[in-house]
Parts: sequence; structure tokens; C-alpha cells
Amino acid sequence: MIKGGIGRKQSHGSSFVYIVAAFAALGGILFGYDTGVISGAILFIKEHFMLSAIQEEVVVSAVLLGALIGAVAGGRLADRFGRRKIIIISAIIFALGAIGTALASTVAWLIVGRGIVGVAIGMASFVTPLYISEVSPDKIRGKLVSFNQLAITAGIVVSYLIGYFLSKHGDWRMMFGLAAIPAGILTVGMLFMPASPRWLASHSMIDKARRVLKRIRGTDDVNKEMQEIQESLSQQSGHWSELLGPLVRPALIVGIGLAVLQQVTGINTVIYYAPTIFQFAGFKSASSAILATVGLGIVNMLMTVVAMQLLDRVGRRPLLLIGIAGMVLSLGVLGFAFHLPHLSGILGWVAAGSLMLYVGSFAIGMGPVFWLLISEIYPLKIRGRAMSIATVANWGANFVVALTFLSMIKILGRPGTFWVYALVGIVAWVFSYFFVPETRGRSLEYIESHWRAGKHPRHMGKG
Ligand code: BGC
Repeated sequence: MIKGGIGRKQSHGSSFVYIVAAFAALGGILFGYDTGVISGAILFIKEHFMLSAIQEEVVVSAVLLGALIGAVAGGRLADRFGRRKIIIISAIIFALGAIGTALASTVAWLIVGRGIVGVAIGMASFVTPLYISEVSPDKIRGKLVSFNQLAITAGIVVSYLIGYFLSKHGDWRMMFGLAAIPAGILTVGMLFMPASPRWLASHSMIDKARRVLKRIRGTDDVNKEMQEIQESLSQQSGHWSELLGPLVRPALIVGIGLAVLQQVTGINTVIYYAPTIFQFAGFKSASSAILATVGLGIVNMLMTVVAMQLLDRVGRRPLLLIGIAGMVLSLGVLGFAFHLPHLSGILGWVAAGSLMLYVGSFAIGMGPVFWLLISEIYPLKIRGRAMSIATVANWGANFVVALTFLSMIKILGRPGTFWVYALVGIVAWVFSYFFVPETRGRSLEYIESHWRAGKHPRHMGKG
């Protein structure tokens, strides 16, 4: 059993590791921006190309399908060619997709362009947390990996704001094209960042791994960490079959379970349809609904900052459980508010308040904790592939929820729809309580050895 857990002496790292994490997190900005921008752009694209309802749906969902493809392909590539290279490749694809969609002259071109952007999102969505996790010191890994979630939320807010300002001229081309700027910065920036020391070690580049570790830890004393990485590697086969074997299977279940639950508790119905929901709630004018949506995006960002302060102190599990409880409560109240015949005045505000509580609760729990945990719980040699499975499950569930939300409202009504999400939230709480391990302060190698020892996930944070 590898000891590297709480109590192991390890420096907080140099300030360089913060720069590395912040640069990589630009991938998160692109993820957030490119998923958020469509809600504003689609209004003008619809007019420009005179889209039918079906075409509109295809344009909107092309990103999600592309993301599925990117998530499938990215895992093997990240294990084979390294995390840093795949981030660079995804940044180049982001840039090409941004310019391509900005220049689109036919609907087919636009759809393919959005699909290509999606491929980049699918890759970046998990390779970014993977890379940051592998460079971070154990004690601040929660905070550093969640830079990525913060960047996603910032990207969403920026996309709302840019959508709002550019809507005066209906400039959808600019909305898409602007993403090329962060994509360019990410491409160039990552050329100067080091490769993941753990990936280097897993490809037998031990001296190089040691050099990178010294640089990012800001000390020459990295023998202990190197030794643990090597010891852990010596126990891994690197085959897919390992993932399905009895020892690592619980990690696979946690990853896929959280991936699906993060989506089927409805977060993206709120992110994508917030203005519509605010209009249901009595915010009649489009501009007040959009402004309220920007407010929601800011709550999402601020609460992610709060989570970043707490993940390494109180741990992942308490935040997850409190966050899900807040989501269930707010969805329940939202359902009741919509249940009453007239939603105006005070009730409109109750609905708006519960939406804020819902998003804030997601932002301290499910949002950051899912991406963080899947970057921590898999064996190094197959980490990319294992994360890619959880990520595919996440984008797949996202797609299903996006496709079914409006029909659910038609069939079950607004209260019924939000209550269904609340019920699923209860399932998510029970699942998290029983299966999600506490990884706070533990080294990635310790986490692996815990699975290998055949212990229950819930015992990971103890002792
Ligand atoms: C989720 C996205 C969601 C975003 C909202 C991410 O963790 O994976 O689907 O849109 O959070 O902040």
C-alpha cells in the first residue's frame, strides 16, 4: 500500500504550477464559451439561413455530437501522445472551428464547423482536468483542477455577454469567430508548458519526469514522489481489461455514475434555457430575462470560487452531498412555484431565487467535483481512456437531456419536469453517499493503491 496520503510531506509547489494550471484552464473557457454562445447566435443564424425546426436542432446539437466523438477519440490519444500535446491539438481544432464557423456560407458548412468545435470541446473537457491533476501537489489539487470548472463558468458568462452586445447588429459570425483568440493563446501558451510528469514516467522518460517535477514543485527533493509514481506504475498492466477487473471496477462505476447524474439532474436545461425559464417565471421582456440569466451565470462562477477554497479543506464528499441537497431543495420549490396558477410578483421572485440556489448548489458540488474526481480515481496507464469513458457518458447524458427537456415540459408540465429532476437528485445523493470516495489530500498513487487493496470507496478518506 502506497503511503502518500494525508501526512506525507509535500511542498505546495512553486507559483509556476499555478501558471501551468491557469494556462491549461483556457481550455475550460473555450468549453464554456462555445457551448454557451449558440443560445444567442442561433436567433440570427435561423433568420440568415432560413432554417427549418429540424435544421435548427441539428445546428444546436452538432456541438454535442462532436463532443461525443472528441471524448471517444481523446482518451487513447492522451494516453499515447501525452496530455499536453492533446491540449495543443484541441486548441488548434478550436481555432480552426471558430474561424470556419465564422465564415460559413451554407448550412452544411455551419453544421460541420460546429461539429468540429464540438470535437475540440469533447477532448479538452477531460484532458484539461487530467493534465492539471497530474501536475498538482496533492494538497491543492482540488483547487487547481477546479480552475477548469471556473473557466467553464467564466466562458459561459462571457458568451452570454458577448451574445447580448453583438445581438444589436445580429453579428453571429463575430460571436463564433472571437473564440479563436483564447484558442490561439492556449495553443501558443501550452507550447511553453511542461508535459505531465506522470505521463512521462509512464512512458519510461524518468529523467525528464524528474526534471519537470523539480520545476513544478520548486524543490530538488522529489525522490519520494518519483518513487511512488514508479512503484505504482510497476503494478499496472495498462490494458483496458484492468478497468473491468474487480479491483478498479468501483472507480469505473463512480465515474460513469457521477457523469450521468451530473447531467440528468438538469443543469444544462437551466444553462441553455434560462431565459425561457425566467420568462415562464414572469420576467416578460427578453432583456430582463437575459439580464437575469447573466446574474445566474455570475452566481455559477462565484460559487465555483467558494468551492475551490473548500475542496482541499473540507473535502470533496461534503461539498458534493451538500450541493446535491441544495439542488433537490431548490428544484422542489421551483416545481411548487410553477404549480401555482399565476406566477407573478413574489412567486416570480421565489422561482428566480430557487434557480439561483439551484445553480449555486451545482457549482459547489456536482460541477467541480465530477471533473475533479474522474481526474483522480483511475490508474495512471489507463487514466486517459478511463476518463474518456466517463466523459462520453457525460456528453451522452447532456445530449439526451437537451433533446428531452422541451418534450418533458409538454408531457409532464413545468412542475412535473422539475420534480422529476429533483427525484433524480435524490438518487444522486444516495449514490454519492455510498459510492463516492474522499480523495482530499491523497496522492494519485495512494488512491490507486486503495483500489488495488480491494477496499471500499468510502474508506478511502479514513485513517
Ligand atoms: C458541466 C457542463 C455545464 C457546466 C455549467 C460543467 O461541469 O459538465 O455540462 O454546462 O458545468 O457550469
